[in-house]
Amino acid sequence: MKKILVALLLTVAADAQVLRSLKTVPTPTPNLNGLVRDRQALIALGKAFFWDMQAGSDGRTACATCHFHAGADQRPQNQLADPLAPFTVNQFLASLDFPFRAFSDPNSRNSIVLRDSSLRVGSAGGFRRSFEDIVPGEAAELGSDLLDRPEFMLNGLQVRRVTSRNSPSVINAVFSVRNFWDGRAARLFNGFTPSGLAADAPGILAWSDRAYMRESVSLDNASLASQAVGPAMDHLEMSYAGRTWPKLGKKLLSLRPLGLQRIAPDDSVLGSYARRDAPGLLDGVTYASLIQQSFEPRLWESPQLVDAAGQPLEGRQGAPANTNEFTQTEYNFSFIWGVALYAYQATLVSNDSPLDRFLEGNTAALTQQEQDGLRFFQTGGRCNTCHSGAEFSAASFSGVGNGGRGGNRAFQRTGVRPVAEDAGSGAGNFRSIGLRNVELTGPYFHTGGQATLEQVVDFYARGGDFANNDLRPFNATPSQKASLVAFLKALTDDRVRYERAPFDHPELCLPIGQNEAASPTFPRSASDRTALLPAVGANGNFVPLRTFEEMLKSPLAAQPCPL
Ligand code: HEC
Ligand code: HEC
Repeated sequence: MKKILVALLLTVAADAQVLRSLKTVPTPTPNLNGLVRDRQALIALGKAFFWDMQAGSDGRTACATCHFHAGADQRPQNQLADPLAPFTVNQFLASLDFPFRAFSDPNSRNSIVLRDSSLRVGSAGGFRRSFEDIVPGEAAELGSDLLDRPEFMLNGLQVRRVTSRNSPSVINAVFSVRNFWDGRAARLFNGFTPSGLAADAPGILAWSDRAYMRESVSLDNASLASQAVGPAMDHLEMSYAGRTWPKLGKKLLSLRPLGLQRIAPDDSVLGSYARRDAPGLLDGVTYASLIQQSFEPRLWESPQLVDAAGQPLEGRQGAPANTNEFTQTEYNFSFIWGVALYAYQATLVSNDSPLDRFLEGNTAALTQQEQDGLRFFQTGGRCNTCHSGAEFSAASFSGVGNGGRGGNRAFQRTGVRPVAEDAGSGAGNFRSIGLRNVELTGPYFHTGGQATLEQVVDFYARGGDFANNDLRPFNATPSQKASLVAFLKALTDDRVRYERAPFDHPELCLPIGQNEAASPTFPRSASDRTALLPAVGANGNFVPLRTFEEMLKSPLAAQPCPL
């Protein structure tokens, strides 16, 4: 009986991508010949970049600050923004506020609207400040407060700016042809901006025959690299307004990697480089040494210093004399950053969920209810028209490659909000995002307006919240809905749930909301409430990651970070 079911599922899915174990799907990779010489070192460099709080202008904002929980964000306070209407800053998220659009009959979009809000659950990034300079050896940069929109003020003090879209997970993002909800992180990496366009990028400096040659960059299958060069210079996310790549490079090269964060001795990537009784990597393992191990010498070996535009400075060789003279490595830093973050995030593949095991032939890996849910996913709910294949996304490489059909389903208008509020990739289309580990990555949609998978299933049953062309309402009994939710939860990989390798990570001090008192260093900014996420090694935690709903019931407690 169970064998027959598997055969049936494969035929049902045949006109989209075939549903199969993610272990059978190769990880997309750019051609790094002539650029990279040691992939393992590159992954270590990327992991350090991703988790290092010193990368943010304030010296305490990492990529991981917004992607620490199953690759997504799960902070309880100061996560709301409303691009369209006034709202109260620094609120705690609360179960009762979800879903943001509620109906008297959750199965019908024509029933009475009980509440509606254009609020977004985003991610708190940086304070709005202008960049002045870096101070080599110090994580915090020099900057000054900029006047912010009145919505981002708390009793006259600025709060951390919140993004107007929800943070998606970085896990399995390597399979997306283009990243971001609207796909604006291009498949081709130009070495400098998310757009991928050659015209937006000056190229990198290569050293050959004792002279600089400018080389343009165009790496295919590298959307994660294109993505990574976005937030680092974004003045709402990690950067003060006006910071440049060579300055970020110069700052990080002057600091101990992860110098404020402890690392588990059995960290799957960084363990052997980690100091034992102090934060950061060992004395001999610097950002310069990791870069030199990873990349071909012609990208970093020149003694000739350049200015911010990459022009050689006459008579200037060796160590820079001030923060406006740059080494080759510093000048090439956007490229180095993008490629290293691609390489680390490409290891974040979760392909060992109960569903994968089931599809590999272990018929006991899914319960009967989960199997019913799988069938409903493909037939009653027709979820797999857009969430297709092993990646659960028509926007993945195997989707787009599949005779165009997957490509057409890659970006869809599902009526989460009216088109006028956020047009996405155009006309209200958003990416058919992958669903693996979705149990742990709430709240859902680009708005973060649904707290639970039950709420998401109701959304689909009523054919979306606003007019759209792409969804049809469907009838489902409570038990069919419960099966569908059970199936979605069978897409969780236990290595993600317990943060086992490759999902283990260094310690992280998280800002989790603001106090109504001024920061000691910036008198016009509010000080942070903080929480400390402990380091975890390859064997993971004993306690599973919580769902968003569980977090709402008992939010992370504030505790001082030893900084
Ligand atoms: C302030 C919070 C914040 C920080 C810091 C941040 N991100 Fe994100 N990240 C987001 C948000 C919000 C989105 C979705 C934005 C959108 O689609 O418009 C996102 C999207 C992404 C995606 C795309 C995933 C997908 O499915 O489309 C990746 C990959 C990613 N971030 C990696 C990174 C990396 C690497 C860094 C550091 C260089 C970083 N993020 C820093 C909030 C953040
Ligand atoms: C017509 C294409 C389409 C169909 C059919 C579809 N989805 Fe989606 N799905 C999307 C798109 C597009 C998004 C992103 C929407 C947004 O945020 O605006 C999405 C988002 C989601 C999310 C949120 C993921 C996250 O990380 O926030 C879940 C969960 C989900 N879908 C589950 C389902 C289920 C279950 C079904 C079947 C009942 C289904 N989808 C049917 C296109 C589709």
